[in-house]
Amino acid sequence: MNETILVTGATGNLGGHVLARLQAAGRGVRGLSRRPPAEPGAGEWSAADLSAGSAGLGEALEGVGTVVHCATDGRTRQGDVQAARNLVAAALRGGRPHIVYVSIIGVDRHPLAYYRAKHEVEQLLEASGLPYTILRAAQFHDMLHFALSRAARLPVLPVLARTSFQTVDTAHVASRTAELAVDEPRGRVADLPGPQTLTMTEMARAHLRASGTRRPLLPVLLPGRVPRAYREGLHLAPGPVPGSRTFEDFLAGAPAVRVPAAARKPRLRAEHSRPRP
Ligand SMILES: NC(=O)c1ccc[n+]([C@@H]2O[C@H](COP(=O)([O-])OP(=O)(O)OC[C@H]3O[C@@H](n4cnc5c(N)ncnc54)[C@H](OP(=O)(O)O)[C@@H]3O)[C@@H](O)[C@H]2O)c1
Repeated sequence: MNETILVTGATGNLGGHVLARLQAAGRGVRGLSRRPPAEPGAGEWSAADLSAGSAGLGEALEGVGTVVHCATDGRTRQGDVQAARNLVAAALRGGRPHIVYVSIIGVDRHPLAYYRAKHEVEQLLEASGLPYTILRAAQFHDMLHFALSRAARLPVLPVLARTSFQTVDTAHVASRTAELAVDEPRGRVADLPGPQTLTMTEMARAHLRASGTRRPLLPVLLPGRVPRAYREGLHLAPGPVPGSRTFEDFLAGAPAVRVPAAARKPRLRAEHSRPRP
């Protein structure tokens, strides 16, 4: 009960919300990421590169009863799998904490490489012998906000034809994740989609309304199995779940555009070898 909760990826979107919720609930929390938080006074922190090896993980896991694993790089498919492998190995060497992992709806059937890596991480946890909880959430509102903000730079806004999403508010996913972190290990729990199923065209219209921009929409039918999987709704839950902020309400809050991990470009080689200040 009094053990520390380690939040990996705590400088990120979801991890930041989870950390804040657990802190507000009076829990002992430690954040982990490669770079320290931008703002000082964020609380206890461990710097470690999960995908690089075990350096720093022993200390990060000291006194930890639960790990909320939100770290993701997204630049290489194997990076996140290796990170999970290293985390599991360190957890088995240490106090065998409960691992709470936030995954994505449909990762076991959708061919997107990022989703396949997430499914691999789920399987790794299931086979690890560690107590675990896996929560699959839908794409965050931020993800579609990012995609539509990028697309709206063009004179004509392209949207995926015949494709729907059930995007969900990150803060809502964080609340559910924080709840699970202080509960017993539950294995796979019910999926967490957002409150509506909207076509990308409907989302683009909402985005244009919210930003006061006018653009003609261009529905595109992309070839290939990944766009087809989105059209077939392999990333969707059987239905949306009411009770959290809609995409339109999210946009009304004038959110910043966050670049999701899966959309980041691979780092340049020179950047890798540059020493950290
Ligand atoms: N975004 C979505 O739509 C969505 C939907 C459902 C589920 N999820 C899942 O939710 C989780 C969080 O996603 P997010 O969008 O909040 O991510 P994010 O904002 O990109 O944050 C990623 C975090 O991971 C850290 N990180 C990356 N690589 C690391 C490494 N090798 N070692 C240690 N820390 C590392 C980053 O900090 P440093 O770069 O400083 O290390 C950052 O704190 C992911 O598992 C994601 O798949 C996301």
